[in-house]
Amino acid sequence: MSEKILVTQSSMPPYEEYIEAIKILWDTHWLTNMGVYHQQLEKELKAYLDVPDLSLMVNGHMALELAIQMMGFPEGAEVITTPFTFISTTHAIVRNRLKPVFCDIKLSDGTIDETKIENLITEHTVAIVPVHVYGNLCNVEEIQKIADKYDLKVIYDAAHAFGVKYKGRGIGSYGDASVFSFHATKVFNTIEGGAVTFKEHRYYEKLYNLKNFGIRGEELVTDVGANAKMNEFCAIMGLCNLKHMEEALENRKESYEYYRQGFLNINGIRLFDENVNATKNYAYFPILIEENYGKSRDELYEILKQNDIYARKYFYPLTADQACFRNKYRNEDIEKARKLSKQVLVVPLYEGIESKNIKKILDYFMEKRKLDVERI
Ligand SMILES: Cc1ncc(COP(=O)(O)O)c(C=O)c1O
Repeated sequence: MSEKILVTQSSMPPYEEYIEAIKILWDTHWLTNMGVYHQQLEKELKAYLDVPDLSLMVNGHMALELAIQMMGFPEGAEVITTPFTFISTTHAIVRNRLKPVFCDIKLSDGTIDETKIENLITEHTVAIVPVHVYGNLCNVEEIQKIADKYDLKVIYDAAHAFGVKYKGRGIGSYGDASVFSFHATKVFNTIEGGAVTFKEHRYYEKLYNLKNFGIRGEELVTDVGANAKMNEFCAIMGLCNLKHMEEALENRKESYEYYRQGFLNINGIRLFDENVNATKNYAYFPILIEENYGKSRDELYEILKQNDIYARKYFYPLTADQACFRNKYRNEDIEKARKLSKQVLVVPLYEGIESKNIKKILDYFMEKRKLDVERI
């Protein structure tokens, strides 16, 4: 049987380095509750992400839930968002007892179509939750203009955009808040983890309360908070992984470029437009299978799987079409999102993927195309 090529594989620091780093926990016995490594990682991430302020969280989803909760929106208010995302984005809105209003996306990069946001605003709208999907950046300037005009908050789901800079500034410094995921499958991981970044320091206090039961003193609880603290083992994993970010990105970049050169030469495969004002983190390699390729995305997905290549239909179905949300919220005009979700396939990309495997995947796409053309 051939070797399985999975869509992703977690980056890990050298074993000895992590073991050496966690040894101290057997002396201190301080495993969680905003320990020294939690504090150190907050500091280092703030610098790395180039953001004014940051609060570390147990995972990206809780970061998003609490970032929305801290805004104090009234129950039932409307939030304009994209359906072309991981289910977490929509869950975070709904679990805050708010109503998602689904906006269409742009075929060019998969991000929310900023020209369609204004039409969806009603007297109940309180916020916009766009997603920098695959690290492709939303039009942050236009979105801010709309938010300013209608006095709305903007909370970016930046789960995919770790380390990305736009016009020389950390992407987490745009909007009222941004949320990052440090899940094991992400470009940077803390096993499980996440963070909220923001400009106003009062949010730090608020998030501190929300992630720690609202406890402010031995006998004082000021907020109805959750438990969303990152533990020290995860924080140390983050500190170790952060030291190796440069080599990890360099390695991903090589694989990314290899794919890019290959796919650009295959008729019927389209790639998203690149943003010349943004840096890349090489987190994912999404391709779009167009009609003239001759095979549908679903057929390709199945054939690849039979050959032990595990690509992902990321994101299909749209969150608006999932069983828990279908027909429940406004989604009048999401045709482009529907189209894209039927075309997209994310091919395997991770630190350390062997170039022979990338070649195998590319050859496979080229071969399929050639055979079909010959048959015609
Ligand atoms: C777009 C998006 N939002 C939110 C999340 C949630 O992050 P986490 O898995 O860290 O909870 C993810 C993670 O997979 C994601 O891809």
